Amino acid sequence: MDKQNIYIETYGCQMNLADTEIVQGVLNSTGYKFTNDISQADVVLVNTCAIREHAEERIYGRLGEFRHQKKENPNLIVGVLGCMAERLRKQLIEEEKVVDLIVGPDEYRRVPELIENAFVGEKGIAVRLSKTETYDDIIPYREEGISAWISVMRGCDKFCTFCVVPFTRGRERSRSLESIVEEVRLLSERGFKEINLLGQNVNSYQDDSFDFADLLYAVSKVDKQMRVRFTTSHPQDFSDKLVRTIAENENICNYIHLPVQSGSNRILQLMNRTYTVKHFLKLVEKARIEIPSVSFSTDIITGFPTETDDDHQMTMDLMKEVQFDGAFMFKYSARENTKAWNLGDDVAEEIKSIRLREIIEQQQKISYEINQTLIGKTFEILIEDLSKKSEDFYMGRTDTNKIVIVPKGDLRIGDYCLVKIERANSATLFTSDGIKIEK
Ligand code: SAH
Ligand code: SF4
Ligand code: F3S
Repeated sequence: MDKQNIYIETYGCQMNLADTEIVQGVLNSTGYKFTNDISQADVVLVNTCAIREHAEERIYGRLGEFRHQKKENPNLIVGVLGCMAERLRKQLIEEEKVVDLIVGPDEYRRVPELIENAFVGEKGIAVRLSKTETYDDIIPYREEGISAWISVMRGCDKFCTFCVVPFTRGRERSRSLESIVEEVRLLSERGFKEINLLGQNVNSYQDDSFDFADLLYAVSKVDKQMRVRFTTSHPQDFSDKLVRTIAENENICNYIHLPVQSGSNRILQLMNRTYTVKHFLKLVEKARIEIPSVSFSTDIITGFPTETDDDHQMTMDLMKEVQFDGAFMFKYSARENTKAWNLGDDVAEEIKSIRLREIIEQQQKISYEINQTLIGKTFEILIEDLSKKSEDFYMGRTDTNKIVIVPKGDLRIGDYCLVKIERANSATLFTSDGIKIEK
């Protein structure tokens, strides 16, 4: 029999995107083919996220749609991968009859076997977490492109009290520096222009005596024309050495995603974030001195248990003081089995909504004002894709991760070009001309 056609949908963070490429790598090496058209699929896989309740609700919605699909094609196999699979395990297969296989983030080598079993009518669950699995030897399946993601470490040992990740992804472990550098070398040969090193807390990377700064340095040396980005950094472990490494190496992008979560020390402590507002501010200040053009983005949770109006105001004040270039802002979502679950969920939904609106509006204003100061300045951007809004324009990014819209002209995707910013809103910069540069 011909190998079946597989359709995969991915939700959640960039690590999930990278994991999907690993799953595809495993499946590809056993002869499976992929399709982007769900109606052509024999197997539908969803790589899921469990970070907030809303993320899971979306997946339940999708499973409902797959149920219709299965009515039309009773042989269709449906598999749930990722963090929700890990969190709900058997419950998911019992409650959702449409699901044939459940595979957690450390068992992706078993996906082909579980699919085979599903075809003979056997439902399967593989959700063991591993202390060592890094998929170091798996070649991720990547289409040609500009930007590649590489998970350099897996799991998380931080146990922030609101977060499911330590439970869905297990303990921290790192890939070897050598194999990461080799993968980057191959990506450079294939014409990739940007590498994103990923981990829930990349600062915990450790391979023998090599730390994350060493890894970043080694990766940046592979190809000077390749940009290197990384995410996510935890404010507690962001070392001076790392700041220096970013400052000294031109192709390591001057952009740091540094989730602060709250501006109240009392809330930070309840969250088990292990740093204070003062420590966070010092870190930002230090980075700005060593890397003058550096930009920052952050994550903020609003409505954590016991958060008062005063705590909320402290978050507002911190945002104003730091002047983040961007922020991802979320309402607190209580997750079963986390420590914060036991604190209750005592901030009313309406209050969460009001506070969220306030921080979003304030951040938009800050981003707008920062972007206005860039008008008239010239930046080097990497052209990454067509603009979402018009085929006559490209979107590129500055080293500091700002999106720039530029007319196509003679430019091609993958080119570096110089642009003078003419117009800006809170999310995007615009120019009428891009001048290609040879590097
Ligand atoms: N490892 C990263 C982020 C992982 S999840 C870090 O430590 O920053 C991405 C973001 O989701 C978090 O930074 C946090 O702001 C948000 N988040 C995590 N759990 C949440 C929850 N239970 N409710 C609301 N937001 C949450
Ligand atoms: Fe979750 Fe905290 Fe780990 Fe980030 S550092 S993944 S927020 S436990
Ligand atoms: Fe979601 Fe898992 Fe990533 S919970 S945010 S997909 S690590």
